[in-house]
Amino acid sequence: MKTKIIVSIISLILGGINVYAQNSKVLVAYFSYSGNTQHVAEYIAKQTGAELFRIEPVKPYPKEYTPCTEVAKAEKEANARPAIKNRVENWDSYDTVFIGCPVWWWTAPMIINTFAESYDFKGKTVIPFCTYAETYRDETLAKIVELTPEAKHLKGFGAVSRDTKGITEWLKEIQLLK
Ligand SMILES: Cc1cc2nc3c(=O)[nH]c(=O)nc-3n(C[C@H](O)[C@H](O)[C@H](O)COP(=O)(O)O)c2cc1C
Repeated sequence: MKTKIIVSIISLILGGINVYAQNSKVLVAYFSYSGNTQHVAEYIAKQTGAELFRIEPVKPYPKEYTPCTEVAKAEKEANARPAIKNRVENWDSYDTVFIGCPVWWWTAPMIINTFAESYDFKGKTVIPFCTYAETYRDETLAKIVELTPEAKHLKGFGAVSRDTKGITEWLKEIQLLK
């Protein structure tokens, strides 16, 4: 009898751990034009054991830098929602979602609006990150927060180009890393 009770208690605990594990997956979703944000996203995923999702536009941006800046500017001015080619599988299994992007024209690229509007963020925790050359880091992190009003948010991080310095400390601070 005593053994039966102990076995039941142990399986209850293990069951609980299992349920927790199923619902505590972490996703790093990112858009990257020239690879910097991808580099940082991969670094975060490696450190935290998260899954990666690269946001891919249906219509690729011009390979040349200046034409790309022009397309990006036109999209911003038109408040456009550039279509996304791929979709996150098993969205419900993630409870924490990093969202990352480069700073484009002082804010997040419009494709981040498309991404944020494509999923239900209720009950999720969103952690913004961005890469940038010089300016508008805080505005871009704030934009990602603004675009996901249903989510809870943790402190974000901005990296200059693909500099990963400070990321480990940040992940520890927000308790995504022990
Ligand atoms: C269209 C466009 C607009 C940009 N606007 C800014 C900006 O406002 N501020 C800034 O610091 N960097 C700006 N940059 C530089 C990028 O944010 C930076 O190089 C970033 O790390 C690129 O990330 P990626 O390689 O993942 O695309 C811009 C780059 C592009 C292509």
